[in-house]
Amino acid sequence: MTLIAVLAGDGIGPEVTAQARRVLEVVAPDLTYEEGLVGGAAYRQTGHPLPEATLALAERADAILFGAVGDPEFDGLERALRPEQAILGLRKSLGLFANLRPARLFEGLEDASALKPEIARTIDLVIVRELTGDVYFGDKGRDLTPAGLRVGHDLMRYDEEEVARIAHVGFGTARTRRGRLLSVDKANVLETSQLWRDVVVEVARDYPDVQLAHMYVDNAAMQLVRDPGQFDTIVTGNLFGDILSDQASMCAGSIGMLASAALGETGKGLYEPIHGSAPDIAGQGRANPCATILSAAMMLRHSLGRGDDADRIEAAVARAISEGARTADLGGSLSTEAMAERVLAGL
Ligand code: NAD
Ligand code: IPM
Ligand code: MN
Repeated sequence: MTLIAVLAGDGIGPEVTAQARRVLEVVAPDLTYEEGLVGGAAYRQTGHPLPEATLALAERADAILFGAVGDPEFDGLERALRPEQAILGLRKSLGLFANLRPARLFEGLEDASALKPEIARTIDLVIVRELTGDVYFGDKGRDLTPAGLRVGHDLMRYDEEEVARIAHVGFGTARTRRGRLLSVDKANVLETSQLWRDVVVEVARDYPDVQLAHMYVDNAAMQLVRDPGQFDTIVTGNLFGDILSDQASMCAGSIGMLASAALGETGKGLYEPIHGSAPDIAGQGRANPCATILSAAMMLRHSLGRGDDADRIEAAVARAISEGARTADLGGSLSTEAMAERVLAGL
């Protein structure tokens, strides 16, 4: 029995995971599902965004399909109780240090991209984002200066093992693609980044077949909109990867199209759209479910060894898009459900 933990969460999370599950039920009818409370929804019912039972379910499951967490209603809570701690806690507890975030332009989406069509058409990259370190997980706190000014601080930190293991994922990923790895950092200013760069160069010795280059993150952000076709595989830290992937999504048409896989040392992974709970459109049936449907495809490929089924889902999304199926974020008017139906029809 293959068990999928479905953690739908907040806002549009339940809307998009429900549609991904419909697609999975057709493509892989043998899977078993168990739902768990997470995020603001969990806090409301249990007083904690990541209840013990949910963590236990995630540990027991073969893979996790995750929606999104977060709601402005909870932004005033102490940090440990905020919905976002649930996804951070899952990534950390399950050791999911490697986050694959592919961005490519589906044929026909040139008009939805923020870039000129001829530039948009070239985007086909994957961001390998480190997911359990960096300024996200360094010591943080609030203080007062001797003069009584309020201070906030978050420590940016990586050790060499953390960098080496994500570098290996970066090189390994580049190897399965066009053989080019770009490491993105801020080594001109940050010691964390200089260590990052030193270690990436050391790991490169194991991958003579992969061409390695380095770029500062500010330049990378600029190059991503100037000429995204120059990128193949990008490896970067947690914060830079978070920001660059949202930016890449608009080059590819919409944040509603970008899927992700969070992986560790075992086969277990957590699969989620890169977007959040989108409180501005939650409950309206307008969210684009494709990012979550494509995340389900990544789940089949990376955790369940069913690459053929993943290909089938990706082809069905491509077909629906090429035939003009569009939710509002893509300039159309299909509902979340209707968009999923167009994907189902393309299977
Ligand atoms: P967001 O990604 O939720 O939304 C940004 C914009 O993109 C909004 O205008 C939204 O309507 C739109 N959008 C997002 N997904 C869409 C989809 N599938 N279809 C159509 N439009 C879509 O980011 P935000 O507004 O900065 O954050 C909202 C909440 O989500 C916050 O609480 C944040 O912390 C949380 N968040 C959670 C995750 C996660 O669970 N992994 C990721 C990002 C943000
Ligand atoms: C993402 C989100 C999360 C992150 C937040 C909600 C903690 O933005 O998954 O991209 O920053 O990793
Ligand atoms: Mn993000």
